This record gives sequence, structure tokens and C-alpha cells, in this order.
Amino acid sequence: MNPPAVSQAKAPSKLILLGEHAVVYGHPSVAVPLDGPSSRASARLGRPGEPIGVELSDFKLAWMRGEAPSADEAKPFAALVERLVSSGLAPDNGWTLTVTSEVPIGCGLGSGASTAAAAFRAVYGLFGVPRGDSELSDDVFAVEKINHGTPSGVDNTVVSHGRPVLFRKGKELAFLAGPGTALHLAVADSGVRHKTSEVVSDVASRRREATERFDAVFSAIGALAEQGRAAFERGDARALGGLMSENHRLLASLGVSSPELETLVLKACVSGALGAKLCGAGRGGCVAALAADAAGALRLAEALKAAGAVTAFAARVGQPRLAGKGRP
Ligand code: PMV
Repeated sequence: MNPPAVSQAKAPSKLILLGEHAVVYGHPSVAVPLDGPSSRASARLGRPGEPIGVELSDFKLAWMRGEAPSADEAKPFAALVERLVSSGLAPDNGWTLTVTSEVPIGCGLGSGASTAAAAFRAVYGLFGVPRGDSELSDDVFAVEKINHGTPSGVDNTVVSHGRPVLFRKGKELAFLAGPGTALHLAVADSGVRHKTSEVVSDVASRRREATERFDAVFSAIGALAEQGRAAFERGDARALGGLMSENHRLLASLGVSSPELETLVLKACVSGALGAKLCGAGRGGCVAALAADAAGALRLAEALKAAGAVTAFAARVGQPRLAGKGRP
């Protein structure tokens, strides 16, 4: 059968409900896909023999394989193409990849993993590559290493599987059951960008100075993630919200909050949120606030915009599904 001339694919963004930073040190983390901002990619056949082309429309960057510009945004995609070619998943000529994303970069929503997942899926589709979600996650993880240096693996796992997970580095992946009723969140962007690799390496160097204290905080965060898993599966938004706020307090004690994030978390809490926290690496990026219902999430998003968020949106997470186990 002839391959299709064009293959299109999409991947979600992600939100860590509980457990960022601690997850880098082997503790569990609860993360969910977000069907709000997402990434799209298309792979199309060109003329046989023509070099592979890559186009990142959001950055007005386009190049032929081997001639990637030095811009940071180009590096992961140059690596992605090399991985596809060197592993024999795609030919070394005659196709073009285009990627675009609504997921803001450096914001805690997993933009790197999301764009890479969409790109791999589009190329798999073009060449009929039979790779499932776990293999996609492995491919995205390889690209994440270019973005982040020492990623825990949570981002690639949740965007590739597209399901709520309890992720623990090196351990069997647990897909979360439920929640029986959807959870409603407001996600607000502080407008300040972080570089995940820099924040993670700063936390690592500060941990070297105060290992016992940092490890105690990481363990406490891991325990919150375990409790959060149960609260998520029960659909107990009130309990989950309390755990999120406690997680934020612990993250702030590690030095990864910022004045902008504190303002947004506080605003969410006085505006009726069941809990709120920074998401992802911190020192900027997004805050997530849990609401009791969909209308509450919309109200929180408005309140967060009024408090200085550059954007804020309401998101619904959690499909009623069966729990299960899988490979990260
Ligand atoms: O800010 P993001 O979306 O790159 O998330 C980083 C999450 C960390 O736990 C801080 C790092 C990691 O690799 O898990």
C-alpha cells in the first residue's frame, strides 16, 4: 500500500497536579494531560532524494537536515529527525515535518514533550511505523534530554499516553482510575518564563548544601502525591485541593516560587479555589487552581487575569476510565 502523502497528528499539554521536583529524585508524581493548549504536526512526502525539511512555523524557522539554525528551538527537532533516521523509522530523504503549538514554552505545561510527541506521531503516520504509546514516550524522552538535561520522564509519559498517571522514575507506570466526576481547574500564566534545566540544576546545587532538609521536603511531596492519587481516583476535589496547596508551600520552601506566582496562588485561594499551586519547574510559568465546578473554574480564571496573569483558562481533567498498569 502506498503511504499517505500527508500525516497529521496532535498531542496535549500536561499539568503536574502534585510532585514536581521531588519526581526528579525518585518520588511519585500525579500528572494529567490537558486538552486545552495542544501541539500539532504534519509530515508530508516530498520528492525522493530531496533532503528532509523541518519547519517550526511559530518561530519562523525552516531548514534542511544537517543545516539546523543555532536557535535553541531548533535543537530538539534536529535531534528528533536524527533519531527517526538513525533508528530506521523514517527514510533519510524525501519528507518534510512542520510543527506548531499553542503550548507556551517555559511555562510548566510540557511544551517540549507535547511538540515532540505530535512530531513523532505525524512521522509514524506518514511511514506506517507501528509504535505504541510507550515507544512514543521513549522517543519523546530522548528529545526531552536535549531540552532539559535530566528530565524525570513525567512529561513524555503523560503526553504520550494522554491519560492521568502516577509516575515514579524507574517504576511501573500506574494509570489513574476516574475520577468519577471531572475535576475543574483554572490555569493561569504568570508571563514569566523559566528554563526547566536551570531551575532543576539550581535545586540540585542547593540540595548539595542542605541535603537532609531538601530530601525531607521531597519525601513529604512524594507522600502528598500518594494521597493525591487516592483523592483523584475518588473524585474528592476538596481533599485534592488541600494537597495542592500544601504541595505549593513545600515547593516554595525549596525556593522555586516567585513573587508573581505567590500573588496568583494567593488570589486563587481568596477567590474560592479549593487549592492552588505552581506547576512545573517554577520561578515563573503557570499556576493551577482547583475549583468546585466548571463555573467556579471560569470565575477563578477571570480573577487570576485581574490579578496580573497574562492568560488564564479553565480546563477539565479526568475521564472516567479504568485503572491499569503500563510501561512509562
Ligand atoms: O516546567 P516543566 O513543564 O518542564 O516541568 C518540569 C517538572 C520538573 O519536575 C521540575 C522536572 C522533571 O523533569 O520532572
